[in-house]
Amino acid sequence: MKMRRHRVFLICTVGLCVISFLHYYKALHYVSLLRELSAPYPNIKSFIMVTGFFWKEGSTLFPVYHHPKNAAVNKLQPRHASTPDPLESLGGLHRRTHVLQDDRSPYFVRTKAGALCFHETLKARPSVAGLGQRRILQKPDESKTPAKSVEESGAARGKPKRGKRLVKCVCRPGWHGPYCGVPTMVYHSNLPTKERLTPRETPRRVINAINVNHEFDLLHVRFRELIRAVDLFLVCESNFTAYGERRPLRFLHMLLNGTYDYVRHKILYVFLDHFPEGGRQDGWIADDYLRTFLTRDGMARIAGSRPDDVFLINDADEIPAQEGILFLKLFDGWTEPFAIHMRKSLYGFFWKQLGSLEVVSGCTVGMLRDVYDNDGIRLRRREYYTMPGFRKYENDTGHILVQWSIGSPFHFAGWHCSWCFTPEGIHFKLISAQNGDFPRWGDYEDKRDLSYIRELIRTGGWFDGSVQEYPPSDSKEHMYAPKYMLDNYDHYRYLLENPYAKQSNLGGA
Ligand SMILES: *[C@@H]1O[C@H](CO)[C@@H](O)[C@H](O)[C@H]1NC(C)=O
Ligand SMILES: *[C@@H]1O[C@H](CO)[C@@H](O)[C@H](O)[C@H]1NC(C)=O
Ligand SMILES: *[C@@H]1O[C@H](CO)[C@@H](O)[C@H](O)[C@H]1NC(C)=O
Repeated sequence: MKMRRHRVFLICTVGLCVISFLHYYKALHYVSLLRELSAPYPNIKSFIMVTGFFWKEGSTLFPVYHHPKNAAVNKLQPRHASTPDPLESLGGLHRRTHVLQDDRSPYFVRTKAGALCFHETLKARPSVAGLGQRRILQKPDESKTPAKSVEESGAARGKPKRGKRLVKCVCRPGWHGPYCGVPTMVYHSNLPTKERLTPRETPRRVINAINVNHEFDLLHVRFRELIRAVDLFLVCESNFTAYGERRPLRFLHMLLNGTYDYVRHKILYVFLDHFPEGGRQDGWIADDYLRTFLTRDGMARIAGSRPDDVFLINDADEIPAQEGILFLKLFDGWTEPFAIHMRKSLYGFFWKQLGSLEVVSGCTVGMLRDVYDNDGIRLRRREYYTMPGFRKYENDTGHILVQWSIGSPFHFAGWHCSWCFTPEGIHFKLISAQNGDFPRWGDYEDKRDLSYIRELIRTGGWFDGSVQEYPPSDSKEHMYAPKYMLDNYDHYRYLLENPYAKQSNLGGA
């Protein structure tokens, strides 16, 4: 009897060992370059030594990079591919805190003559970019690579400093300003302080907050578009639909099964486990509450944020362009709050709508706290100047604050793709829509019909029977769709080309 117990105990122990080894081994395989950055101290050190990763000589190379607890949690994260109810596997995921780190990537290059030039690295893949940048850093004055940081020859000969005219950056197309770090969408915006923009020594950290329901294809596009510019994504999911019914935690499930491993280290999961009082009668209460909860719960779980970090809140169907957000991260001198002009389209990018959608989307963490009381929905309304804390905050900053917008109706700074789903996705959106945006089309059986929905997509029609005017659009046009979609055209084809217009195209136009 005793022997048997011993044996069972032994087998269990061995089993546990094997399992934990497998987990550790698996985790090791998923350590990406960026996760390396958030690993504890010793890893950072070797990483820096191997790649020669440095920001500036003499600056603190090893700040407090990471909370060791977090690293441990990262590695031990279980992967349940087929958990029936992910709520059980939530563990402490929705209570974990995230420690913001400083981003030490070399965004600017100092030339020998002393010019500080934006190093345009957007086209390179993050993992490869590290090495490419390094080479350029070592020989910044080699003008074989055109339109990088080029110094004028006079200065390079070592003549005495004769003022700033000798020292300048040569910008690539699409970039402006003395540091070449101002993208066209900012250059052509209504920013009143365009002449006073200066690069920051240490980039701001950018926090992007979103609520997800079932916009999973667009979510990948957001992550890919913004992974370089955003430091932390606050992603909120509820086990209630906006209508107040139960919904499965599909994002959590995918977060745990590895779908988002390429960006996992930048995601903080926010779980809304209740439905606000009155939300069933008035859907707008539920709608607003999602943003309030997302901001309050998410921001409370971030450690190490500074007042000049950036907070950016979007709906899942609003995708800001990377260049604009990078600008916010790297420059001082813009005012707040800021809006974003987004290209508008319906059912896909092919039904382009007139003008742009301009949504107030962000401000600094300091303003969010002092003026908006850490409530993202207040930010999205435009009434900051009537908010009780605004005048004091403005006075404290020492600047006059005016709202400005990245982009313009002609220079988009992002995309708003509404109802961009397959017909099945549109059906799902109809039945889970909040109870307040009337008429609520999900209440009508004929409007939920899949062939009816397909016809809407084909014609660009709306549920009320109307068809709006669409300006012509072409998938080759600038800012047609986020780069990741165009790069993965086949996967996103259903949003890039009208899937039901083919027959009429063959027959007519
Ligand atoms: C959502 O989760 C909370 C916490 O686990 C639970 O109390 C609540 O009943 C759940 N709601 C639904 C609709 O499943
Ligand atoms: C994760 O789950 C989703 C949804 O069930 C599924 O489509 C996807 O293939 C899964 N991914 C992995 C890596 O298991
Ligand atoms: C504005 O700021 C100044 C100092 O910067 C301070 O003396 C003054 O009391 C502030 N006014 C208000 C209304 O906060």
